[in-house]
Amino acid sequence: MNNKQGPIGIFDSGYGGLTILDEIRKSLPQHDYIYLGDNARAPYGTRSFDIVYRFTLEAVRYLFDRGCPLVILACNTASAKALRTIQQHDLPAIDPTRRVLGVIRPTVEQLGRHTKTGHIGVFGTPGTIQSESYDMEIAKLYPGFKTVGHACPMWVPLIENGEASSLGADYFVKQEADRIIDKDDNIDTIILGCTHYPLLYTKIRKYIPEHISLLKQGEIVASSLADYLKRHTAMEARLSHNAHTTYLTTENASKFSTMASLFLNHDIEATTVEL
Ligand code: DGL
Repeated sequence: MNNKQGPIGIFDSGYGGLTILDEIRKSLPQHDYIYLGDNARAPYGTRSFDIVYRFTLEAVRYLFDRGCPLVILACNTASAKALRTIQQHDLPAIDPTRRVLGVIRPTVEQLGRHTKTGHIGVFGTPGTIQSESYDMEIAKLYPGFKTVGHACPMWVPLIENGEASSLGADYFVKQEADRIIDKDDNIDTIILGCTHYPLLYTKIRKYIPEHISLLKQGEIVASSLADYLKRHTAMEARLSHNAHTTYLTTENASKFSTMASLFLNHDIEATTVEL
C-alpha cells in the first residue's frame, strides 16, 4: 500500500459531527475515517471567534499529524469562524497539498432546489448566527434571497447532556420554532445549521409547519464530498480504503463511547487524546 495514503479526518466540537460521519460513510463505505470530537472544550457555539479558530486549528493540525490528507470540519461553528482563515492563511504554510472543507457552502448550494419563496431560515448556534456566514454565502450564490438566522443556545447543551428525547427538549424546540416563524412567515426552507440538530429532528419537525422543508446537512455534505472526490482524483488517490473508523475524543473515552454508540446505533470504542 502507498504509505502516503491516509484516512479522512472528521472534526466537530463534540458529538454532532457523528451525524455527518454517518452519512458520509453510507456514501463512501470503503474509505477510512478518524473522527475527532473536542468534547472537553464543547460547546463551541458560545465561544469567541479567536478561541474557535485556535481550537479548530489545533484539531486540524492534529488530524494532519495522524496522516489525514483531507479534513472535514463537520461543525458549522468551526466552519463559520475558522475555515476561511485556515484555508487561506494556515494551509499554504502547513501543507498546501492537503485540504480542509466545511459544511456551510455545500448546504447553501442546495437551496435553489428547495425554496420557492426565497425566504430561508437558519437555525444555528449563537456563534454561527452572529458570524452571518450563512447570510453572506446565501447572498453570494442567490442574491435575491432573504436569510433569517435564528440562534438556539439551548439545543446543543440538551443534546450533549443526553436530553434530546426528553419533554424538556420539547419546550425549547417549540420556543425557537415559534420565534423563527414570527420573524418571517414567508420562510419555506429552514437549514438545520448545526450538526447536532438532526438529533432533535423529530421534535423540530413536530413544531415547524409542514409546508416548510427542513434541510439536514448529513446527506448534503456526503453527496458533495463524493462529488468532490470524483472531481479531485489526486486527492482520492491519497485516501486509504480499509473501511475502518477510529474515534478520538479530548474528554473521557468511555463516556464518549457510550454517547456515540447511542447516536450511531452501533457500539464504538473511543480513545482519549490531547490536542
Ligand atoms: N456541532 C456544532 C455546529 O455544527 C456546534 C456545537 C457547539 O456549539 O459546539 O455548529
